[in-house]
Amino acid sequence: MNTQEFYTNMKTEQDKIKENIGSIKNRVVVFSGKGGVGKTMITINIAYELAKKNSVAIIDCDITAPNIPKMLNIKGELKIKDKRILPVEHKGVRIVSSAFMAKDKDAIIWRGPLRSKLINQLLSDTNFESTEYLIADLPPGTGDEVLTITQSMKPNIALIITTPQEVSLGDAKRAISMAKSMGIKNIYLIENMSYLKCPKCGEKIDLFGEGNTKKLGEEMGIEVIGQIPLDIEIRKESDEGKVGVTEHPEKEFSREIGKIVEKINGASQ
Ligand SMILES: Nc1ncnc2c1ncn2[C@@H]1O[C@H](COP(=O)(O)OP(=O)(O)O)[C@@H](O)[C@H]1O
Ligand SMILES: [Mg+2]
Repeated sequence: MNTQEFYTNMKTEQDKIKENIGSIKNRVVVFSGKGGVGKTMITINIAYELAKKNSVAIIDCDITAPNIPKMLNIKGELKIKDKRILPVEHKGVRIVSSAFMAKDKDAIIWRGPLRSKLINQLLSDTNFESTEYLIADLPPGTGDEVLTITQSMKPNIALIITTPQEVSLGDAKRAISMAKSMGIKNIYLIENMSYLKCPKCGEKIDLFGEGNTKKLGEEMGIEVIGQIPLDIEIRKESDEGKVGVTEHPEKEFSREIGKIVEKINGASQ
């Protein structure tokens, strides 16, 4: 392939993506600077909360750790119909994940550029017909892959997940800067594992420091739209594939997700 062909190819790939997802009104990317802060957990809960009233699809972009199907306890397979990929439907949410395509051990050794290429293909070739919200669970960090996927998706909403720990906040700051530099219209911060409520006495235990996320938000001019507690029951059940907002709509955890979803709805109008 010569240089000219390379650029022509790239352009058609971006054109195809635009053609396929351009009409989805709400394209949401979920960033986190640091891994393990609850990006997948929050993506799933937001998706299932939104799906109570809207048509929602999740694209699992974390190819080295495609945890969406795992956390939902589903083993599906992407099928092809009329040359288009059909997402796996689970309780009203459409899901596309590389976990439905290859065995984990094959996926892990994929190199970065190939991973981006695969996501681009999922974005251009999946049938997202009549989807109102497309939510992307991105890989952690602010590297090339995250940049490429975000450029392809052209999201109107970015959610940045952080815990109140210094290491996570530092990484979240970089993610905010990245989202800003990409011109994403609505950028919000979500604090996860804000506190733990003692299951016995109900006392609120501050785990990682209070007020730090709010401070970062103020410094960066970004609103904190939710403070989600660490909920042991929801964590245990998520290991069995259950979704917090579906199983426990009355919990503080779910109320915070509800607030976030209202904000997303507002931003998308
Ligand atoms: N608010 C929470 N309450 C309880 N457990 C949580 C919460 N957020 C995340 N977890 C748990 O923490 C672990 C890491 O979360 P995960 O969503 O996989 O993080 P990431 O996608 O950012 O790597 C998972 O076991 C998840 O169930
Ligand atoms: Mg994850």
